[in-house]
Amino acid sequence: MKIWAVANQKGGVGKTTTVVGLGGLLAQQGQRVLMVDLDPHGSLTSYFQHNPDEMEQSVYQLFQHKGDVPAHLPAQLILNSGYERLDFLPASTSLAMLERQAVSQGGAGLVVSKTLACLWEDYDYVLMDTPPILGVLLINALAACQQLLLPVQTEFLAIKGLERMMRTLQMVMKSQRRALPYLVVPTMFDRRTQASVGSLRVLRQTYDGHIWPSAIPVDTRFRDASRAGQPPNIHDPASRGVAAYASLLKYLISHAPDATVRHQVSS
Ligand SMILES: Nc1ncnc2c1ncn2[C@@H]1O[C@H](COP(=O)(O)OP(=O)(O)O)[C@@H](O)[C@H]1O
Ligand SMILES: [Mg+2]
Repeated sequence: MKIWAVANQKGGVGKTTTVVGLGGLLAQQGQRVLMVDLDPHGSLTSYFQHNPDEMEQSVYQLFQHKGDVPAHLPAQLILNSGYERLDFLPASTSLAMLERQAVSQGGAGLVVSKTLACLWEDYDYVLMDTPPILGVLLINALAACQQLLLPVQTEFLAIKGLERMMRTLQMVMKSQRRALPYLVVPTMFDRRTQASVGSLRVLRQTYDGHIWPSAIPVDTRFRDASRAGQPPNIHDPASRGVAAYASLLKYLISHAPDATVRHQVSS
């Protein structure tokens, strides 16, 4: 099982789109994919036509067991997206109550790791969507993943937001005593604007060695796909946005560490 998390403490940078974009492509390639919605706003859950305000069964239930996830529970919470091999663990608005909770409480930081350990044989890829707030949900995602993707909009203000995310990441890696591989993914790139071109140049200089050498272009088809509740590769397989995510996926598969070793999680 490969576990990737998509994070950035700034909203609207393309996190959810990256999860669905890559997830849709992986499922199409025959991989069994689980997307995990760890954002209390539940954009991923809404994407697949479920209302996060009304979800009675969600990721929230996993956090109700003082860090001890019952082995049967995760599978019971999973929904299918409507597309073959593409499942998700939904979010509910109640997750917001967890967000500011201290992670030190009885193993609360490893709930997602333990959840995925229960599903180890069921999926080839797990893609986690995360909230823009540093709290127990983001910490769980960072603790459970083997590879972190950091989408950043190619504009100067968004680069500031990424700096904050990098400070969080350094802090988490220090407390977990491990180096987490991360890849900056420039998004919403518009080569006709100076702001896009200039900020991409700055990003490449700043994150040399940790940045995907290409960029996801601005493509209105992503919004159309989300309105239709379809993964972008199903909605418009020929769009340039989908081609960009396909190229990102290829890069990740050939460059990501082959961390198929099961996480050591003691309960
Ligand atoms: N490359 C892109 N080009 C144009 N619109 C995009 C692109 N990526 C995402 N969007 C749109 O921008 C909005 C925010 O994207 P989203 O993935 O929800 O960001 P986040 O999860 O970081 O808040 C959504 O309406 C989405 O459809
Ligand atoms: Mg989102």
